[in-house]
Amino acid sequence: MSSFLNTLSDGKEMVDKVFKAAVACNEAKAIYGDVVVDATLGTLFNEEGIFVAFDSVWNTYETIDKIQKAKYASSIQGNPDFNNAVYKWLFGDLDIQTPCEIIASPGGAGAVSSTMKNILNPGETVIKPNLGWGPYKTMALECALTLTDYNMFKGNSFDIEDFKNTLSTVMDKQKRVLVIINDPCHNPSGYTMTSNEWDQIISFVNELSKKGPVIILNDIAYVDYTNTGSIWKKHFEKYNNIAKNVMVVIAFSCSKTLTAYGARVGAQVVLTKDLEQLNAFKNASIYSARSIWSTVNNSAMKLFSTIMNDDILKSAYLKEKQFYIDLLKDRASIFVSEAKEVGLEIYPHVEGFFVTIKITNNIEKEKLNIKLQKNHIFTVEVDGGLRVAICSVSRRKLKGLAKRIKEIM
Ligand SMILES: Cc1ncc(COP(=O)(O)O)c(C=O)c1O
Repeated sequence: MSSFLNTLSDGKEMVDKVFKAAVACNEAKAIYGDVVVDATLGTLFNEEGIFVAFDSVWNTYETIDKIQKAKYASSIQGNPDFNNAVYKWLFGDLDIQTPCEIIASPGGAGAVSSTMKNILNPGETVIKPNLGWGPYKTMALECALTLTDYNMFKGNSFDIEDFKNTLSTVMDKQKRVLVIINDPCHNPSGYTMTSNEWDQIISFVNELSKKGPVIILNDIAYVDYTNTGSIWKKHFEKYNNIAKNVMVVIAFSCSKTLTAYGARVGAQVVLTKDLEQLNAFKNASIYSARSIWSTVNNSAMKLFSTIMNDDILKSAYLKEKQFYIDLLKDRASIFVSEAKEVGLEIYPHVEGFFVTIKITNNIEKEKLNIKLQKNHIFTVEVDGGLRVAICSVSRRKLKGLAKRIKEIM
């Protein structure tokens, strides 16, 4: 029998490991209550186990006029106030010399998938880290792309050699490279690359771009949770040094930045010295936006620009966010130091929402996950390990957790 669906879509079925683990965890909580450790969801929870929605953000939302909430955005590219506020938020007082365009998107997810769609032809290969956010795969398949991985770590550092080899192989084959780099606060390891690692990447892609266009998709979903605060953003000045045949698409997201996950707002922040290509990419992205999601949430764009353009609101927001950055740091240091003490192997962690236990054998990983669940510990299976979302587990529950996991292992 022939299918109603086209060949690409026939058989597609979304199995989201994060949501699946969360459902199992909620069932356990209903039965066992507080003994359950829920380390599944990548959203902030406070020490009392309550979902965090910043007061400085959501009280401001209440002040937005209902007409703004009801209205369409004023432009498919994104409201000019929002796009300007994103530019200022990311680049602030930096000296950014590379020409830039901003296109609003429904979250970071919209920014990543639209970039894949417009950069590569169906059948071509997108490069991603071997340890990475699950939806990169589904997005690639949705755009009829194939995937290849670079190895993230060699010892405690970024595996620059494998990165170079993977990009060179793809360049030789398809004469164009699209590579995803999720930095800072990589999901799921919590690694942040060093300045030197980034310098090596940029000098390598500049050289590689003599053979064909190189597009870096820098997914910065967790940029506002670095321990160094806005200092990390100095990193963006490195994009002043990209060659003309290199383009950087920064995928920005308000989900974590504002604790506004459901508001679905983000942006593609595009930088290249090739003005013709910059314009072509902007036009293609706007075209895709209109054809797929149309416009982005008007009131959420308004919310972002209202906070960022008001000194009092902004400083209240920064203070509130800093409290959670400090909390994440505390939580990480509990889990990471205890893991070290008991010999539980984790991937290099610097900061952010997650820590990941290293288990490269899939069968062992699945077995351990089942055992952990029987012991009321819920994590998420990712390629190469089990992700512990420290963003959602209190310090009280993190204490002793590494030891328990090691013993169950
Ligand atoms: C690595 C990474 N990139 C991008 C996103 C995009 O999130 P959103 O589409 O909600 O902005 C997420 C969210 O979990 C993420 O973990």
